[in-house]
Amino acid sequence: MSKTTKEAILRGVILAGGLGTRLYPLTKVTSKHLLPVGNEPMVFHCVRQLTEAGITDILIVTNPGYVGDFVNALGSGKDFGCEFTYRVQEEAKGIANALALAEGFAAGGRIAVLLGDNIFESSIQQAVSDFHAQQTGARVLLKKVDDPERYGVATLNANRIVEIEEKPEQPKSNYAVVGIYFYDSIVFDVIRTIEPSARGEYEITAVNNVYLNRGQLEYSFLQGEWVDAGTFDSLAEAHQILLNRKESH
Ligand code: G1P
Repeated sequence: MSKTTKEAILRGVILAGGLGTRLYPLTKVTSKHLLPVGNEPMVFHCVRQLTEAGITDILIVTNPGYVGDFVNALGSGKDFGCEFTYRVQEEAKGIANALALAEGFAAGGRIAVLLGDNIFESSIQQAVSDFHAQQTGARVLLKKVDDPERYGVATLNANRIVEIEEKPEQPKSNYAVVGIYFYDSIVFDVIRTIEPSARGEYEITAVNNVYLNRGQLEYSFLQGEWVDAGTFDSLAEAHQILLNRKESH
C-alpha cells in the first residue's frame, strides 16, 4: 500500500477498559461502558459517532472480565455498518497503555481514539475533516468547563496550546481536553517514550505533551454538549442530553 493511501485511512479505537469504581455497585457485574445512557448501552454512542463520521474499522479495547459482554452486545459490527476488532487490556495501567494495544490494528495508518465514557451531543465529523486536512501530528478537542480539575487542562497562548496538565489542583485555564484524540502513525513510538505518572498510569496527556513539544499538536473547540460519564452525576447528565437529543429529532 502506498504511503498516501495509508495516511488517508482513519481507523477508530474505542477505549473501554477500567473498573468503573466510581459507579459501584452499578459496575459490580458489568462494565461502565455497557450501562444504559439514553436508550442504548454507553459504548453504542461512541460506535455511532465513529460510523457517522465515516470511520468503520473499529477496535474495542476492554478488560478481561468484560470482553465477552462486549462481543455479545456489539457483535461483528454488521448491525452498525462497521467491523469490530477486540483486544484485552490485562492491567489497568492507563489510557496510553490501553492505546498501545492498537498498534497492530492501526497497521501504520492514522487513528481516531475515543474514550468509551465520553458522550457528545454533536457529531465529530468536523474534527475528523480537520484531521484529514492535517499532514502530520495529533489533534485534540477542547471544551470550556466549570470543573477543569477533573480533566486534562490546556493552557493557551496566542491561539496555541502551550501546556497540558493532567487533573491539576490549580488549573491555569477552563479548557478541558475532551476524550477524543487523533494521532498519526508515530503515536506508538511516542507511547514507548513516556513514563508513568505519580498515580502509576501511562497518561494520554503525556502523549499529547510529546506532540506539543514537537510543535505537532493541533486543536479545535468542541461544539455542543459533552459529558465524561464516569460518575453518578455525569452519568445522569449524559442520559438527559441523549434523551433531549432524541426528542428534538
Ligand atoms: C481522561 C484523561 C483526561 C481527559 C478525560 C476526558 O481522564 O486522562 O486528560 O480530560 O479523560 O474525559 P479520566 O476521566 O479517564 O480520569
